[in-house]
Amino acid sequence: MATSWTQPTAAWTQPESEFWAPNRNAVDESFAMAPAVYADEGFFADEQERLFGRAWVCVALTAELARPSRLLVRSIGGRSVLLARTDDGLVGFLNSCRHRGTELAEADCDIAQTIRCPYHRWHYSVDGRLVATPMFDSVPRDDFDPADFGLVPVRVDSWGPFVFACLNADTPPLAQWLGDLDERMAGYGFDEWQPATPSPADCTFEPAANWKLIFENFAEYYHLGWVHPELAKMSRVEDHHRYQGPGMYCGQTTTPISGDERDDWLTLPAADGLDASDAASGRFIALFPNVLIAVLPSHAFVMRLEPVSAGRTIEHCSFVFPPGTSPASDEAGAQQFAEAFEVTRRFWIDVNDEDIDICERAQRGIARGGAPPGPLAPRFEEPLNRFHKMTADLMTLETVAELAVPAGDRPGGIDLYGSDPNPMPPATEAAAASSAPEAPATATS
Ligand code: FES
Ligand SMILES: [Fe+2]
Repeated sequence: MATSWTQPTAAWTQPESEFWAPNRNAVDESFAMAPAVYADEGFFADEQERLFGRAWVCVALTAELARPSRLLVRSIGGRSVLLARTDDGLVGFLNSCRHRGTELAEADCDIAQTIRCPYHRWHYSVDGRLVATPMFDSVPRDDFDPADFGLVPVRVDSWGPFVFACLNADTPPLAQWLGDLDERMAGYGFDEWQPATPSPADCTFEPAANWKLIFENFAEYYHLGWVHPELAKMSRVEDHHRYQGPGMYCGQTTTPISGDERDDWLTLPAADGLDASDAASGRFIALFPNVLIAVLPSHAFVMRLEPVSAGRTIEHCSFVFPPGTSPASDEAGAQQFAEAFEVTRRFWIDVNDEDIDICERAQRGIARGGAPPGPLAPRFEEPLNRFHKMTADLMTLETVAELAVPAGDRPGGIDLYGSDPNPMPPATEAAAASSAPEAPATATS
């Protein structure tokens, strides 16, 4: 009898299986995701390939590639990828030599002109062409043309201060993935926001929690009063509203921010030219799958998630600032800036510590207890239902060319679960509400 080497296909990759049914419901009938989604290494392996291997994954800040000599090494979906900048823009390649596959760079580094393989010293230009093969021609081969052996390209694009990469050719372009985010956040001039140099603040954490728990925790404010009593004084539950149009993201806004005497978020001046809504709000964008962005009028706190295993995630944390806010390049200016920003920086780190604690606890309960998933709270957890559907789609679709980017909320407040209608809707929602016919009173996803 012939032996089959085919692995059984897991239910979570089958479009027709019941695995995702509780997550595909409308939010008022939906449930949390199954414990395996967070704790099973088999799920994690499939997720690396099907979700991270086919999504637009945030891999860096554009500032990290500001110098043309810079080469970054990033991991996406279990693959190692090189990122660089040429005169024509950002480029990406698999981190593997076209001779016999050797890893070209172990970690971020500066290069002189070419990317050199350490094994037999084949050289590649920064745009990926094979430009030198030492001693290879000492016995020439008729079938060898260096033009056929350039580095394997990877799709790279950018938005605002972020660089994204995608391993999959069928995935829709980044602009489609982002949906209305570019328009929604146009007033911030986000392309110009950069980290401070030298940065007073960048840091890394490694919580013992699945990346999706960190994403979900960022995307809901149900936990605010109990996990973040200090934050809840400034960012009151009743001031939270939805901030969510078409696109692969979940969003909420706090309008107005800083509802009490604390001013931890407001130690720096606001960016120039913000409209009344942007100037009074904190925008919280969880961009699928791996970058969490908290945008305040004077700065943004950014977390890029790098999954390590089912139960472990690296959080790469950075602060970015609008033009004119970040410090002078001299040491004294940088010091002055760091001192002014310290209250805000400490505040974010304290809040993040509280989030890490609760996410680790959630991970332990799911991994060791594994209670069946419970119902989502429609007022607070619609963004999670939206996230679950994105996750289910990436895990089950045969081809991501078929991906349906979520439509988001309709204007007019009908579908906006949450607190009362936003008293200061962002410009895109205000414009849409004034021109849209009244929407029927049904839930959307
Ligand atoms: S493996 Fe890279 S030059 Fe041989
Ligand atoms: Fe939190």
